[in-house]
Amino acid sequence: MDLSFFADKLSAGLTQLHYGDQPTALYEPIRYIMGLGGKRIRPLLTLLGAHLFTDDLDPIIKPALATEVFHNFTLLHDDIMDQAPLRRGQPTVHEKWNANVAILSGDVMLVRAYELFLDVRPELLPQVLRRFSQTAAEVCEGQQWDMNFETESEVSIEQYLDMIRLKTAVLLGFALELGALLGGSTQEDADHLRQFGTDIGLAFQLRDDLLDVYGDAATFGKRVGGDIVSDKKTFLLLTAQAQANPAQRAELARYIGQPVTDTAAKVEAVRAIYDELAIRSQTEALINTYFQDALHHLERVAAPTDRKEPLRLLALQLMERES
Ligand code: IPE
Ligand code: IPE
Ligand code: MG
Ligand code: MG
Ligand code: MG
Repeated sequence: MDLSFFADKLSAGLTQLHYGDQPTALYEPIRYIMGLGGKRIRPLLTLLGAHLFTDDLDPIIKPALATEVFHNFTLLHDDIMDQAPLRRGQPTVHEKWNANVAILSGDVMLVRAYELFLDVRPELLPQVLRRFSQTAAEVCEGQQWDMNFETESEVSIEQYLDMIRLKTAVLLGFALELGALLGGSTQEDADHLRQFGTDIGLAFQLRDDLLDVYGDAATFGKRVGGDIVSDKKTFLLLTAQAQANPAQRAELARYIGQPVTDTAAKVEAVRAIYDELAIRSQTEALINTYFQDALHHLERVAAPTDRKEPLRLLALQLMERES
């Protein structure tokens, strides 16, 4: 079974979703953002996690899509917070409409995400909702740390890693745990899959931070350099600050935490220091470490090796992604 089999199932399920009609300013942005596609990795992880244990995937489509609707809700709000102009190669919702629209459309998406869990088997529903609620709160915690760190000068790599674990990795972990539980796995296997997802998620966010500096805007679909402009305390910046010589440190200090009008010059200057310090390869090394950690957890799941293959393949693709 290759990845397109699962992706096709999700696409079909997505076309069945109905978010609402009136007022159009509430629902049209939802159809817009969901229609822009994206990689759909969270629901894919749920299906692949379930498929380790069952062939009966149809009841898992809606809960799988709950994670995608939730993810897209976070993007609407994240793009306001990050003042991002582009998403998936198109104007962000708050640019195309306005911030109030993006806030409220996002809110109703969170509600719709919860509704998509309603058909989960009654004996599993409390655990699913408890774990989803915990995960969703953690995503908000991570987002707030991310915002706090923009204006903090003393952020450690450990704090950064904890922040990305919350804002990004736990949702990938939950997506896999959800699939495992709905597929009928043991709690032990669900735990290993969650940890597999969390490690992939850490690597995934590191890759995102790398692409924010070195990606091609047309392929990445987002503005390149945005993290540098907003003083995001990424692994790249923190590592550069830690390893900079006095001249490089002074150059970084001219731009980070200072009001800067020429943002293009700022991005260029910071990227030049990253290049001098080989930050790119250091980030790739850390990504690979998390990828290896992830694979160890996948190995320990009690399921046939051939069923694990699509998960291993997807994880590998995500480590090497350009978009
Ligand atoms: C973007 O997520 C936000 C991050 C956690 C980095 P994705 O890279 O999964 O975005 P889409 O859904 O594929 O557009
Ligand atoms: C986003 O992190 C994580 C979310 C919870 C949305 P980023 O702010 O780096 O994501 P992008 O780069 O805008 O997709
Ligand atoms: Mg953000
Ligand atoms: Mg963002
Ligand atoms: Mg990013």
